[in-house]
Amino acid sequence: MKVTVVGAGLVGATCAEAIAHKDIVNEVVLLDVKENLAEGKALDMWQMSNIKLFDTRITGSTNDYSKTANSDIVVLTAGIPRKPGMSRDDLISINADIVKTSTENIIKYSPNAIIIVVSNPLDVMTYCAYLTAKMDSSKVFGMAGILDTARYSAFLAEALNCSPKDIKAILMGGHGDTMVPLPRYTTVSGIPVTELIEKDKLEAIVDRTKKGGTEIVNLLGTSAWYAPGVAAAQMVEAIIRDQKRIFPCCVWLQGEYGLKDIYLGAPVKLGKKGVEEIIELKLNKEEMELVNASATAVREVMDVLDKMNAAK
Ligand code: 2OP
Repeated sequence: MKVTVVGAGLVGATCAEAIAHKDIVNEVVLLDVKENLAEGKALDMWQMSNIKLFDTRITGSTNDYSKTANSDIVVLTAGIPRKPGMSRDDLISINADIVKTSTENIIKYSPNAIIIVVSNPLDVMTYCAYLTAKMDSSKVFGMAGILDTARYSAFLAEALNCSPKDIKAILMGGHGDTMVPLPRYTTVSGIPVTELIEKDKLEAIVDRTKKGGTEIVNLLGTSAWYAPGVAAAQMVEAIIRDQKRIFPCCVWLQGEYGLKDIYLGAPVKLGKKGVEEIIELKLNKEEMELVNASATAVREVMDVLDKMNAAK
């Protein structure tokens, strides 16, 4: 099995490293446009193999996509990250070009690869990759829900003074301030979270989760990489090992939740074919309104991309 990670920046490198540590694929190729960046990081990672005890061969490439040929999965992290004061949507014009070019190169050498998009603005960049790849949507989807759910779970574990391992949660909607953490679908070892925490504290955690990415941008001056990188690696593992795990991912909705022709976060089953099923939760009216509001926000940015493409 072979995985390519496009973009050897902080997210891409963290993702490649996490995949190697799992020791589930023969080969990871890290690719970047910046001369020698991917080669250098890949070499450093490969030199961990004797210490961390993995066999996965990691190599780097400066923009030579022939090295990525016949990848089973490609994780697309290329693009510029946001700076303080920027929203993810501010990145659209620069990152759309990067995602389009990268996707064209990916499918040229790996026409059967599953593509996991990580670049921001996530939902719209996944749409951009889908339009470019012209592949079945079960093979083009985005990573955001696992990251956002992990943030939500981390904040809950802190507030409840419990192990984050025991928190099971789901979250829907776009990867932005309109995302929809779902307390009704959140448990701690099977106990509904609403039985363990006061309403106002839970609301504050939901709110902090929605702004979780911005909190880190404000602390670091650039966006997060540890949690985003390992979140994408978890999706790779679910596919490689055909685990049929249920995760929130950014997927092409075709009538599910009453939404059509939109990339949005929803729970899916991930296995060797990619998105093997989109799971429809029985959302109540209030939850559905929040998901619809998030869909409206994502659609506005999708329209910007459509207009940009039409003007070309
Ligand atoms: C985040 O939420 C990078 O969008 C990513 O941190």
